[in-house]
Amino acid sequence: MVVAERVLSGMQPTGDSLHLGNYVGALLNWVRMQEQHDAYFMIVDLHAITMPQDPAALREATRRTAAQYIAGGIDPDRSTPFVQSHVPEHAQLAWVLMTQTGMGEAARMTQFKDKSAKEGSEHAGVGLFTYPILQAADILLYQPYGVPVGEDQKQHIELTRDLAQRFNHRFGETFRIPKPLIPEQGARIYDLQDPTAKMSKSASSPNGVLLLTDTDKKIAKKIKSAVTDDGAEIRYDPAVKPGISSLLSIYSVLGGKSIPELEAEYADKMYGHLKVDLAELAVATLGPVRDRTAELLNDPGELDTLLAKGAAKARETASSTLAEVYQKVGFLPAAGG
Ligand code: TYM
Repeated sequence: MVVAERVLSGMQPTGDSLHLGNYVGALLNWVRMQEQHDAYFMIVDLHAITMPQDPAALREATRRTAAQYIAGGIDPDRSTPFVQSHVPEHAQLAWVLMTQTGMGEAARMTQFKDKSAKEGSEHAGVGLFTYPILQAADILLYQPYGVPVGEDQKQHIELTRDLAQRFNHRFGETFRIPKPLIPEQGARIYDLQDPTAKMSKSASSPNGVLLLTDTDKKIAKKIKSAVTDDGAEIRYDPAVKPGISSLLSIYSVLGGKSIPELEAEYADKMYGHLKVDLAELAVATLGPVRDRTAELLNDPGELDTLLAKGAAKARETASSTLAEVYQKVGFLPAAGG
């Protein structure tokens, strides 16, 4: 029997909901990959508390994110969805990897620099600083060949590779070196109100972020009021026409048409036509995901059972990698353990 290659990824349960960037940059790719891979998809609640969180809201967001994974097409019979804090090995391996990471190396991570600048660097927590090392632990515990993510995570995967190589070099072959698996189209979705900024949960205007919980009316409104560029030509040219180019890439991924196909289709049309059609397409694709999420959330017990099953399976792999790491770094095994 050919054993399927393993992939692993995760999202933070923060903000009101996952958004279109998460869906297009990551989730759609995960759904495609689960067909051919042994796939693990986490909800990274340990990462979420690196920024202030309300405890009740975090619990709710964790379940909602799980429901959105499944509503978006993750099949729990094929893949392993689980909650990061249910698998204690993540925090345990992160500690070991922290001892192998340089201060300068961690300080170079752009996500840390951006987030700590927002908080004011005096107030940024140490957890935010070590965030990418926990991410490296998330990945390396499972020995995946690839990590399907959007473009913004590339630097964290590079750090993960460096840490794995360093550990292997110091302590002997232990970790597989994972590759980032970044989709060709949709790896970076822009804010609808500011097409030079990445769509993000912490955006300044809620109108720029299309949430997977938005009503049909809101989805259509946000797309129709998206900021576009001067001129009238519908052409993919991110440097000159970031607004229209961003809408074209969303259209391309959601509609399964190539950018040149769309450019040809809209050659004689106006921005407004493209927006109306894209709004309709987005409602048709995201509406059912929203409705299915709500149905799943009506039965939290069922969701929790599914997540417990995922965590039990994840722990089998995670604990065996951690045991090897503990042995390699020289920890004395607990007697009888
Ligand atoms: P997070 O929660 O910010 O984002 C989850 C996934 O969505 C992608 N993404 C985007 N893709 C395209 N356009 C956008 N505007 C956009 N915004 C977000 C992200 O690239 C990501 O794939 N550090 C990670 C979570 C994490 C993780 C891991 C990922 C923790 N441990 C281990 C992979 C493997 C993060 O904050 O993702």
